[in-house]
Amino acid sequence: MKRFPIPRFDKHENVTKLILPFCRLKPGEIWTDPQGKHRIGCLDAADPSHIVSLMNGQKASLAVHDPPYNLIAFEERDLDSFIEWCGRWIDMTNASLADNSSLYVWLGADQKNGFEPLPDFMLLLRTKTDFKTRSFITMRNQRGYGTQKNWMAVRQELLYYIKGSPKFNVESEYTDIPKILRGYYKEIDGELTENFERSKSENIRAGNVWVDVQQVFYRMEENVNGCYAQKPLKSIDRIVRASSQPGELVIDFFSHAGTTLIACERLERRCNTIDIDPIFCEISIRRLARLRKNGETGWQDSNPFEKELEDLGITGFDDDGEPIYSRTGAATATENSVTPNKSEQLGLFDTE
Ligand SMILES: C[S@@+](CC[C@H](N)C(=O)[O-])C[C@H]1O[C@@H](n2cnc3c(N)ncnc32)[C@H](O)[C@@H]1O
Repeated sequence: MKRFPIPRFDKHENVTKLILPFCRLKPGEIWTDPQGKHRIGCLDAADPSHIVSLMNGQKASLAVHDPPYNLIAFEERDLDSFIEWCGRWIDMTNASLADNSSLYVWLGADQKNGFEPLPDFMLLLRTKTDFKTRSFITMRNQRGYGTQKNWMAVRQELLYYIKGSPKFNVESEYTDIPKILRGYYKEIDGELTENFERSKSENIRAGNVWVDVQQVFYRMEENVNGCYAQKPLKSIDRIVRASSQPGELVIDFFSHAGTTLIACERLERRCNTIDIDPIFCEISIRRLARLRKNGETGWQDSNPFEKELEDLGITGFDDDGEPIYSRTGAATATENSVTPNKSEQLGLFDTE
């Protein structure tokens, strides 16, 4: 089988430069779905004018956000400015949500540094917004990282807030895991009943500790090579099913691999999503097109830019992320690469 993965974009600037010319959106532009369901913007989550333009006067019933919280871990932004930045996109989320709606935010906690930014973000929502806390979900990763001197880190935190009183579809909470524990007795109408008799389902509910979701890795069909922070579709499917209805609008301000978009397409919701990086906007658009064409959710053995790379004569990448050219290669990467001028911050307009 052909293997043609592309290296992670965050680690290989040369790959980013190679791919940028193939991205249809420039900063400030929005792609509108020819089928009229979704909108994908190359926009800044913290810029109010961008979000107003994305929403086009509509309100969403669900927001699923997965911001880049490692900005602090790598000291690109101090904690205060990170939280101030969160406040800006949270305000725009509030403005984009309907009166009865749900907000889910994935966030990390750095155990070496006061668990930042998780508690600071929780305080921001508690003190500066009217969102009401609903649940604090932990998703357990199958593999973790750590040392022999501490507990292995295997968790991902997911915060669930609401505005008003949105519907919660409890049936979406049931897992594929059969109930195995008997013996919880309770008297009902004078009869002693056992938990299995009283159950609504043979399977257990996910609850607020999700142990049944596999992390995305390269052998999975949904894997999108080049991405580095892709959430499992199963986790986003669960959120979308639980907190929205078919036909409703869902927003995600940090699209990356377009996971929320793909969940919405499969579950017949509409999605307005953005990413500040044109590459992730292009990947989101292409992932949607691929799903519609052949039902696939990712590029397990290849990558979203396979055709363009092959046209450049590239057959793969070495361990340093440098392209490997076929002997009959058409052209070099540098000859073909055009890095869009970042200062070309265009006005907001739709494109297809
Ligand atoms: C953690 S990833 C999201 C992963 C996504 N949930 C998925 O499943 O693929 C965060 C994304 O946010 C984008 N991003 C960072 N700052 C942004 C901003 N100000 N506005 C919009 N997107 C931003 C990054 O380019 C990155 O792709």
